Amino acid sequence: MTRHAPNSVVVRVPGKINLQISVGPKEDDGYHGIVTVFQAISLFDDVTVTKRDLGQGISLDIAGDHTHGVPADETNLSAKAALLMAEKYDIPSDLSIHIRKSIPVAGGMAGGSADAAATIVAIDSLYSLSLSREEMHSVGSLLGSDVPFMLTGGTAVGRGRGDQVTAALSRGVYYWVLAVSTVGLSTPAVYGECDRLRAGMQIATPKVNDQLLQALLAQDAVTVGKSLVNDLQSAACSLRPALRLILDVGHEYGALGSLVSGSGPTVAFLVSDEEHALDLAVALTSSGVVGSVTRATGPVHGARVTEVR
Ligand code: C5P
Repeated sequence: MTRHAPNSVVVRVPGKINLQISVGPKEDDGYHGIVTVFQAISLFDDVTVTKRDLGQGISLDIAGDHTHGVPADETNLSAKAALLMAEKYDIPSDLSIHIRKSIPVAGGMAGGSADAAATIVAIDSLYSLSLSREEMHSVGSLLGSDVPFMLTGGTAVGRGRGDQVTAALSRGVYYWVLAVSTVGLSTPAVYGECDRLRAGMQIATPKVNDQLLQALLAQDAVTVGKSLVNDLQSAACSLRPALRLILDVGHEYGALGSLVSGSGPTVAFLVSDEEHALDLAVALTSSGVVGSVTRATGPVHGARVTEVR
């Protein structure tokens, strides 16, 4: 039986939480050396990439509950990914990209990076490029620091800008409650505020938190909860003081741990099980200090093809 070349590929990609972000000093290139521990969680975007006739260029449309503020033009990271892939591998960039979003936008959960990762995986499949993971990572890291992790998923340590990813061992399922804001925070603004707050301080070279990695290996959610740390949290809270109130509600209702996810403003609470997640979600919703509340589990896999047509 002859297999026809695909016309359309669907890729499912998760969002992420950073269980640790330790931020070093700002480097000459404007970025900060960081050490981070990522966990991919069960909020997914579905990205469909379909071939178009030559000369038609890229079209982009975005659907779902979380689309406010997502650019539907060539500034979208998915469109940039498609153009970069076309240039690098000498394939057409006449593509339509449809993104169904569930990952919060500008929420510190890598939604834009996830869509870029999904686009790389979709184009690899659409044009039978058979790229290695390393090749995909190197394209991904040109697009954004979080893109390589969104290709990998699971649990991983990120070094450099967060783009040098090594898989980490983790056992069991972690239950999360996420307080999502309707208005996002800009990642460069949060890093800038972090620099401002630390001006004049001696900043140590960031190191991975061994206690956190051991706890993930031992399936010890209580210690994972106590080990959560994000050097960007003070900066995110400084730019968005309401985040402190949200963190307080989580403590009051017995979360095992909490932190601002990535550069925020999503706040992630680790809880012990599904029932605890539901209780905390109800408490956060009725507190009146949260835009919307959602639940997720992790770790889950990275960007994967779910349909080929
Ligand atoms: O790599 P990405 O495009 O996601 O980064 C967005 C911005 O976040 C960068 O322009 C930079 O200001 C900041 N950033 C940083 N250090 C990192 C990652 C991001 O300063 N490790």
